Amino acid sequence: MSIRARAERHLTVDHAGSAVADQSVKADWSAYAAAYDLLSKHNPEYQKILSDFELFLSQITSPQVIYDIGGGTGNYTQIAARVCPDSNVCLAEPDPGMIAAARAKLAAFDNIRYENRALEDIDAPGTADLIVCVHALYAMTAPEQRLTDLRRLLRPGGVLYLVDLGRLMDVTDWRSYLFSHLKKEHGLAGALRIFWQGREIAKQNTVIRRAQKKGVYWTHSDAEIAAAATAAGLEIIRQDTVYRGYSDLLICRALP
Ligand SMILES: C[S@@+](CC[C@H](N)C(=O)[O-])C[C@H]1O[C@@H](n2cnc3c(N)ncnc32)[C@H](O)[C@@H]1O
Repeated sequence: MSIRARAERHLTVDHAGSAVADQSVKADWSAYAAAYDLLSKHNPEYQKILSDFELFLSQITSPQVIYDIGGGTGNYTQIAARVCPDSNVCLAEPDPGMIAAARAKLAAFDNIRYENRALEDIDAPGTADLIVCVHALYAMTAPEQRLTDLRRLLRPGGVLYLVDLGRLMDVTDWRSYLFSHLKKEHGLAGALRIFWQGREIAKQNTVIRRAQKKGVYWTHSDAEIAAAATAAGLEIIRQDTVYRGYSDLLICRALP
């Protein structure tokens, strides 16, 4: 189903008669924030994407201005600020809980600034040499337009490192994958302890799945996200399937 059709299916009409998105099925990112880094640390697939981003950064000319859009607790910002100490890194994150966790974690860096706002509210056209946006686009309203916002934020020739959850989140599949990994690494008691500490993650992932099924969050195939990126004026340099087949990684250049 097209992005527009999915979005329209879940619009309701407010008192003034205008269409508004159904907010009731969106993830609570602040609740997610408290346990986010615990499970990220223990999820090898999350770590693989971090490593890929670090390798990518080490292979390009150091960008002057880097944006981390929907940067969450700042794990990609941290890599950017460390690998590119002379770059200005901006973490843009609308959720107060997520950005508070990032600020606390990254306090030692002096090349990071924070924007507590959504992508659609950033007004800085043509300023970014590099944008990283990981697992955030699917959760935004009107992702096709948000891709255009990302394109607009980049200078011509600037690069977008984009990872997006495209397939339906299978919470049971992830739970058994992570549990067997944790059991191998930490034993049964250790795995149970980490699962208990990170129980909010499973809860929020269930909400994400519900939002995907209702069409509030975007699901896409690799071909669909590639078509949307191309339509937004982005030239795809590299595309891979990552995160156990659930997500797409695209590295794109902004066309002039
Ligand atoms: C699953 S987290 C990903 C965090 C981080 N990028 C990472 O991979 O660790 C998704 C993030 O997208 C953010 N987000 C949701 N809608 C957004 C929007 N319109 N603009 C920017 N960020 C948004 C949420 O607040 C949340 O922190």
